[in-house]
Amino acid sequence: MSCADDKNCNETRTRRKAIVVLGLMLLIFLGLSAVSFLDSRNQVTPDTVSFDTHMAVQGKRVFQAYNCMGCHTIVGNGAYFGPDLTHLYASTGPAWLAAFLPSAANWPAEAALRAQLLNPALAADAGSNTLEAYLKKYPGAAERVHRRGGQSSHMPNLAFRSDEVGQLIAFLKYTSQMNTEGWPPKPKVDGLSFPQARQRVGLTGAGALAQPVVAAAGSAVNETGDPATVGEKLAKDYGCMACHSSAQERLVGPPWGQLYGSQVSLADGTTVLADDAYLAESIRQPDARIVAGYPPGIMPAYAALLNDDEINAIVAYVRSLQGEQK
Ligand code: HEC
Ligand code: HEC
Repeated sequence: MSCADDKNCNETRTRRKAIVVLGLMLLIFLGLSAVSFLDSRNQVTPDTVSFDTHMAVQGKRVFQAYNCMGCHTIVGNGAYFGPDLTHLYASTGPAWLAAFLPSAANWPAEAALRAQLLNPALAADAGSNTLEAYLKKYPGAAERVHRRGGQSSHMPNLAFRSDEVGQLIAFLKYTSQMNTEGWPPKPKVDGLSFPQARQRVGLTGAGALAQPVVAAAGSAVNETGDPATVGEKLAKDYGCMACHSSAQERLVGPPWGQLYGSQVSLADGTTVLADDAYLAESIRQPDARIVAGYPPGIMPAYAALLNDDEINAIVAYVRSLQGEQK
């Protein structure tokens, strides 16, 4: 490209200037990129985060296998059908997640949380082993239990294995430790005004947090006539249905459909008749006799949580699941 004679020829100079400016831009760009990488050196990495014996990396695989991203977001990635899960662990703690995930068709009530805290791994990870201390430390759990506990949830029941629940907790523990620079922003809603978020009756004020649900459930046993109905409610509230199906399907524990009156094969090779006494013992001390094909030490012992009336009501509920014959 040559200059025409009659024109003021500074094309070369202009081109040189442009190249210098571009070079400067490139330097600034590379410099800023390097600085942005420096910052992320303090980021937590998934291989350093675990819950009990479960690694966050395993949890990420479970998260993908169940396509949680099809409904939830993590740091904004995913779908917006369910709530964002990035910082959930920090606000609800591991025990609430352990109660919620396997029973996602229901929001866990206080009793289910109390039962989870009997698990030493969960209590240790949470740093508190009483319900009162836990709810204080994890306000997100307190809010969910008191506003929604016992009500049904829109999250599908995904029937996880118990190790998958532990792995998901490890993964959500990792995401809640990520430095997201203040993301997500706080939503601008003034309180929860939808019908599912109604405060539970009789639970108001801070003092109510310490009120055990056992007392309320105990009076329900005396008030309503049908123990099987009361038992069904207790079984839901105490999170039994997270591990036991009322029909025939195998979840974490044996199914209850057709259980009453049947011969149960035990791990030691003997059999036992599933009568009132056996069922009550299985609830108080699950490890006294282990059902064949199931691991010991998974079911919490409910001896300290349920009184005799409540156990009888749950047994009546299991009895009512016998089917049409009786
Ligand atoms: C088909 C959609 C769908 C899938 C798949 C799904 N969820 Fe959900 N999830 C929801 C919805 C909807 C809610 C909110 C429920 C409500 O408000 O009643 C929810 C709620 C939750 C909550 C409670 C959130 C809170 O703030 O209280 C957790 C934890 C959760 N889901 C975890 C998971 C995990 C982990 C997976 C994958 C293993 C998963 N979800 C898969 C739809 C889904
Ligand atoms: C974390 C999972 C889990 C929870 C929660 C749980 N269970 Fe279990 N349950 C199991 C497992 C696993 C077994 C089988 C091993 C054994 O015999 O202890 C079992 C066994 C039983 C049995 C004996 C069943 C049979 O076929 O002989 C009964 C009855 C029972 N549970 C009742 C309850 C009740 C009532 C609750 C709630 C108050 C409850 N479970 C909560 C996991 C659970």
